[in-house]
Amino acid sequence: MAGGGLGGAIGGTVWLTGLSGSGKSTIAGHLRSLLDRDGVPALVLDGDELREGLNADLGFGEADRAENVRRVGEVALLFARHGFVVLVPVISPYAAGRAAVRARHDRLATPYVEVHVATPLEVCEARDPKGLYVKARAGLIERFTGISDPYEPPPSPEVRLDTDGTEPGALAAGLLERLRRLVPALASGD
Ligand code: ADX
Repeated sequence: MAGGGLGGAIGGTVWLTGLSGSGKSTIAGHLRSLLDRDGVPALVLDGDELREGLNADLGFGEADRAENVRRVGEVALLFARHGFVVLVPVISPYAAGRAAVRARHDRLATPYVEVHVATPLEVCEARDPKGLYVKARAGLIERFTGISDPYEPPPSPEVRLDTDGTEPGALAAGLLERLRRLVPALASGD
């Protein structure tokens, strides 16, 4: 049994970066269920959801994306320091923004794991779960990540998930096993 969040123990941030439609949120949802099962206090900070409220004033220009990632990173850090395992599915396309979030966690000695959900663009575009790639190709959405705005893949994430042909539930289960070695609150204790 993991001891995350118990007795004031520190939690950690699991940052899932990847293209729109890569499966970040779905994997985070499955992982959240597994952590619930284990009694680990966990929450998901989803980019789409946060943009409806906390970050509703932000668009998709470079500065706004940087601010979006900064705010989400700060919220994650707060919860992680209060004992939660925080799952953060946000595109976070720019390496500099991700590095800044990592640096903030490092400075406060809070576990931080970068997970690259490495679904290729062709696969994300074929899935197109929200119909956004079609709109982006038609020029109806400006600066769409992977189409008309860059995605800088992380060169050395702690975990890289190749999602092709594997169900999200199985990916989440495999990820949890990897996290047990990376986040002390999730260590299996044997
Ligand atoms: S981030 O780039 O700032 O990290 P975030 O993860 O918060 O992005 O939000 C991405 C979501 O916003 C996408 O999943 C998609 O639903 C929506 N979206 C709307 N416009 C864009 C755009 N131009 N580029 C990427 N995603 C967009």
